[in-house]
Amino acid sequence: MEIRKLKLGEKAPFDLLLLADPSQLIVEDYLKRGECFIAEISGNMIGVYILLPTRPNTVELVNIAVAEELHGKGIGKQLVMDAIKTAKNKGHNTIEIGTGNSSIGQLALYQKCGFRITGVDLDFFIKHYPEEIYENGIQCRDMIRLSQDL
Ligand code: COA
Repeated sequence: MEIRKLKLGEKAPFDLLLLADPSQLIVEDYLKRGECFIAEISGNMIGVYILLPTRPNTVELVNIAVAEELHGKGIGKQLVMDAIKTAKNKGHNTIEIGTGNSSIGQLALYQKCGFRITGVDLDFFIKHYPEEIYENGIQCRDMIRLSQDL
């Protein structure tokens, strides 16, 4: 597997990006403002993440996703670790990530990769998404914010 930056003019893998965020508009905005990285196996894009500069020396890891048929094989963890390394190499001091209160697997993954919970944006998903979201039998209401010093 190779992880590389999406080339200028290269088509972004929307099928993957929309797995992490159902809003096409939000994904397009992230692509404009951030840097997109992809994981490839034999020339096929199977993973993606975007690094989005937010504040001075701080970057947010958004839209991380792995092709559904390849979940649970350690690729997500490799992508998170690659994002941390890339952010550090670019001179950032902090990397942040946010996920839903119902995203149990993602919360496990991010903490295994060194992120600590720093806050909760109460009712974020109620305010910003038109449809109710349920995962793991839990309503997704709040955004759990996590961060890591680099
Ligand atoms: N409890 C405990 N640990 C869990 C868990 C759970 N319920 N679910 C996952 N994990 C752990 C795994 O055990 C693994 O840790 P390990 O290597 O120590 O065993 C780690 O989390 C991640 O596993 P990995 O195989 O690397 O993840 P993945 O390749 O399936 O990718 C996502 C993870 C989130 C990128 C993938 O599920 C995905 O694309 N989801 C849809 C998009 C999405 O939700 N993006 C995130 C938006 S915030």
